[in-house]
Amino acid sequence: MKLVVIGGSGLIGTKLVSQLRNRGYQAIAASPSSGVNTLTGEGLAEALKGASVVIDVSNSRSFEGATALKFFETSTRNLLAYELAAGVGHHIALSVVGLERLPEYGYFRAKIAQEDLIKGSSIPYSIVRATQFFEFLDTIADEATEGSTVRLASALIQPVAADDVAGALADIAAGAPVNGVIELAGPETFPLDALIRRHLAALNDPREIASDPQARYFGGKLSERTLVPAKDARLGATRFESWLSQTGREISSTNLKPTAGTSGRERLVASTKSILVLASLITGALITASTLMAEETITPLMSNDLAGVAGKEVLMYTVDFPAGFSSPVHRHNAQVSVYVLEGSVVMQVKGGKKVTLSPGQSFYESPSDIHIVSQNASSTKPAKFLVFLVKQKGAPLVIPEK
Ligand SMILES: NC(=O)c1ccc[n+]([C@@H]2O[C@H](COP(=O)([O-])OP(=O)(O)OC[C@H]3O[C@@H](n4cnc5c(N)ncnc54)[C@H](OP(=O)(O)O)[C@@H]3O)[C@@H](O)[C@H]2O)c1
Repeated sequence: MKLVVIGGSGLIGTKLVSQLRNRGYQAIAASPSSGVNTLTGEGLAEALKGASVVIDVSNSRSFEGATALKFFETSTRNLLAYELAAGVGHHIALSVVGLERLPEYGYFRAKIAQEDLIKGSSIPYSIVRATQFFEFLDTIADEATEGSTVRLASALIQPVAADDVAGALADIAAGAPVNGVIELAGPETFPLDALIRRHLAALNDPREIASDPQARYFGGKLSERTLVPAKDARLGATRFESWLSQTGREISSTNLKPTAGTSGRERLVASTKSILVLASLITGALITASTLMAEETITPLMSNDLAGVAGKEVLMYTVDFPAGFSSPVHRHNAQVSVYVLEGSVVMQVKGGKKVTLSPGQSFYESPSDIHIVSQNASSTKPAKFLVFLVKQKGAPLVIPEK
């Protein structure tokens, strides 16, 4: 059976594709980085040829309401039209628990629009509404941060591990369409403020949590059960503390001690000698950065002229980030694909979401993307990733940005 995962390069998509393949299915990862774009229709007809099931786990690159609405409306309309033409028999979409209970949040209104389009189409469907992923807690904390204080209500949250979401989607993809909504959550419920306090403490993040019943969640007012599912929700198995230890995100308190007036992230950046590395890379040469006493190591694997495209070259190399390493802001005037081999790295391009990638997950940067976060997620374990890059011959590999 052929299944197509739209957003197959994302957090959930990567895990889902690998779970489906482990179960013996032909799972196709479709996203702009593999030439399939639901906004433009590019590559969709080819990707959907012969597919029985489509699982849409794509996401808008921005949470801003109008942008997200445009993304989900356009991409869902296109996707459903191409699915109809290809004879797809089951459309599955990943949505969020509690959408109607937070109408002030524009992103949630965009997800409602996505669900309405699915319900209105003639394609049999299953909408899976998940609670917040453990992997999303960083974003919740960042969104609620004012200065060095994270202001949060004590409303309940029942977060779920991305691995469990992928597992549930794989199960649902193997079954018949429910033509309705399935809720999915983690096994435990926490007050939001207490959970984020624990999460930041585990990361040795110095931000203070202020418990405030009036605090907004992405602009919306939470009541006690806004974010929690109904009693019959399907539950993932992973508990929060196990996830923290499994993902290696817990930072020993002997490392990364906060210093007055300086955030953990600023200290990470300041502690590296990575400017040296970037300055050297501007020459266009691939080097082993450790020879410059810098803390990241770049190991060339191959470089070749790009066949059939005059003036372009393709490069492949590995990058080793030592524990706690963070790159300065930069840009590559190149098409860049990153594939994590070991450890965990945090990546973000300007205007995009911050993502934490584990082994087997990938990340893409276009020539115009400004790479604002590129760091090892762990202060205790090294990380390693493979880079595949296409650029103009002789052009610098890395361009520092302010
Ligand atoms: N975060 C949470 O806590 C949470 C909770 C419940 C439900 N959800 C839902 O879960 C879904 C997946 O979230 P995620 O965190 O896994 O997303 P993600 O990591 O941000 O991945 C997004 C994926 O969408 C793809 N994409 C972007 N634009 C596209 C386009 N025009 N055509 C095709 N694919 C496109 C991206 O492809 P490229 O990599 O090629 O750009 C990427 O594969 C979202 O719909 C979200 O609403 C999230």
